[in-house]
Amino acid sequence: MSNKYTSNLHIEKAKTSKIKDVDFDNLNFGRTFTDHMFICDYVNGEWQQPKIIPYQAMSMDPSARVFHYGQAVFEGMKAYKDYDGGVFLFRPKENFNRINKSCARLAMPEFPENYFFEGLTTLLNLDKEWIQPGVGNSLYIRPFAIAIDSAIAAAPSDSYRFMIICSPAKAYYKGTVKVLIAEEFSRSANGGVGFAKAAGNYAAQFYPTSLAQKKGYQQVIWTDADTHTFLEEAGTMNVFFRINDTLITAPISDRILDGVTRKSLIQLAKDNNINCEVRPIKVTEIVEASKNGTLKEIFGAGTAAVISPIEGFEYKDTYYELPEIGDHSYSSILKNKMLSIQHNLADDKNGWRYEIK
Ligand code: COI
Repeated sequence: MSNKYTSNLHIEKAKTSKIKDVDFDNLNFGRTFTDHMFICDYVNGEWQQPKIIPYQAMSMDPSARVFHYGQAVFEGMKAYKDYDGGVFLFRPKENFNRINKSCARLAMPEFPENYFFEGLTTLLNLDKEWIQPGVGNSLYIRPFAIAIDSAIAAAPSDSYRFMIICSPAKAYYKGTVKVLIAEEFSRSANGGVGFAKAAGNYAAQFYPTSLAQKKGYQQVIWTDADTHTFLEEAGTMNVFFRINDTLITAPISDRILDGVTRKSLIQLAKDNNINCEVRPIKVTEIVEASKNGTLKEIFGAGTAAVISPIEGFEYKDTYYELPEIGDHSYSSILKNKMLSIQHNLADDKNGWRYEIK
């Protein structure tokens, strides 16, 4: 993209802050939002002046295309604060690149890099009081883009809105996670939008996940749409399996999200001499490993949940329980390494931290 988009960010500060009403010890994920938001419209083939304004509801024509065709993409990022008040993002360029990849797949215009980084940095500086210091706390950042044309013909929009909102966060999942391996429903298909963070990918999971929840499972492990024989993702996360001392995760494809946590864990495993294979994994391999005692761990990996250990899984009406290995699990070793880097408590030899100045 050319750099015709030069900085002209408009800032309108909130008159009062809502922060005094927030109980930071009892946060429900994604329900509390900071004082400001970033907004930028695309009209007549151009991104218009980017703005930061007080967080507020917005009105939109009922015919806006996003409501009818789900032309919408998003990202999930986090900001962390150390005990000296330093604020850090984790590999933000990855999220920026990915939202533009998602935009391209959904026939939406790419967003300019300097608008994204200037907007995000300014927003975080304005709302930095909302980031609690220390491991276990973060500010979840939700950039997203939607089609706003008032027109219900099934065609790409001419106008779009790019926004960033922020929400203080603690843990994403409360308690343990048991999963059901998908045998009927799928999350994505060959040639589809599974690799993109398209809003509809998540909506399409709600119904099969609600069926799994009725059976006592919190999430579904998605398998390939053709044969339901290969393991692909877990809930809204990428998924890792540990057989003996080897971690295994599926290769990215047009069906599987190129997760930032996923690729960071692959690198951290390498940095810590943990063997990690990126290859297709059959459901039968996991079932067999569980039966013969070599399956040690399964965990989901994503920005919101970081690493979510899985306690057991159901496949073809049989439940398989995973062993308890506590602090020696790869999931806790890698999670601690990752959180220490994110919170500026450890060396960052891969250069992943991005300080907000
Ligand atoms: C994330 O982990 O950031 C995600 O996008 C998951 C989201 C559905 C909460």
